[in-house]
Amino acid sequence: MNLKGRSFLTLKDYNANEIEYLLDLAADLKRKKKQGITGNSLKGKNIALIFEKPSTRTRAAFTVACIDEGGHPEYLGKDDIQLGHKESIEDTARVLGRIFDGIEFRGFKQEYVEKLAEYSGVPVWNGLTDLYHPTQILADFLTLKEHFDKLKGLNLVYVGDGRNNMANSLMIGSAKMGINFTILAPKSLWPGQDFIDLCKNYALDSGSRIELSDCLDSVVGADAIYTDVWCSMGEEELAAERIRLLKPYQVNANLLSRTKKSSTIFMHCLPAVKGNEVTEEVFEQFADLIFDQAENRMHTIKAVMVATLGI
Ligand code: CP
Ligand code: NVA
Repeated sequence: MNLKGRSFLTLKDYNANEIEYLLDLAADLKRKKKQGITGNSLKGKNIALIFEKPSTRTRAAFTVACIDEGGHPEYLGKDDIQLGHKESIEDTARVLGRIFDGIEFRGFKQEYVEKLAEYSGVPVWNGLTDLYHPTQILADFLTLKEHFDKLKGLNLVYVGDGRNNMANSLMIGSAKMGINFTILAPKSLWPGQDFIDLCKNYALDSGSRIELSDCLDSVVGADAIYTDVWCSMGEEELAAERIRLLKPYQVNANLLSRTKKSSTIFMHCLPAVKGNEVTEEVFEQFADLIFDQAENRMHTIKAVMVATLGI
């Protein structure tokens, strides 16, 4: 599989075989790292890490993954560079493309990460935008594979803000990989019909089911329940309304018991607001798995950089 030179902006651009390849590569890099073996695939490569929004996992994962493979990461925070103050995204892209070999971008507009890819001429990786969080999905799917030994046919229910970057990316990824995917959310937080249709179309190829529900009984049979914060970065002023809307959708012991399956796991991309989207009790019950997910950010992000830029 040759992904050299490709950007990683949204899972829409990757087919099931390519996603599977990245997951296998990540598992292999993880195995090696546990044995103390790192690589030289990014030797001599300079990587820009642009962050308009804060980050713990994504920043740490890109930094360590890059250094593990012999590359040099450079953090460019929103207040450190001219982007958004004095300089357009197109000009920033053309400058960074002359100096760096690869660019990670976390920020607000999906259009920005796409423009960076278009104008820089080097691979660009989406570290989260308002619309998508594709590297997180690779970590989630690696974690699911480690736990269930498969993806196809699993039942994944995402509970919470059904139209945020996590819900969107999980829906695309699940539809492509044959995971049955349900969004459990009040109707006002469902994604738009065009997006649902697009994912249902991907699901035709993989044989997965894509469903939307506002009824808690839709968790029956879930292999995994997934949630995310009720208010994403940049939406802080919506907090009161979101709490009102989503309170009935908290992941707690009662919701877990409604799956009627003792093997159901709970997942969270983190950071978590315990007491809102998940209780402390459920979070701690699944803490090992949740922190596997967090660790897997590093191995999967390494796989993306090695596959698209590595030598
Ligand atoms: N899950 C995730 O992207 O975490 P950070 O915001 O800490 O990077
Ligand atoms: N939906 C969350 C994801 C954080 C990793 C946000 O955008 O803030």
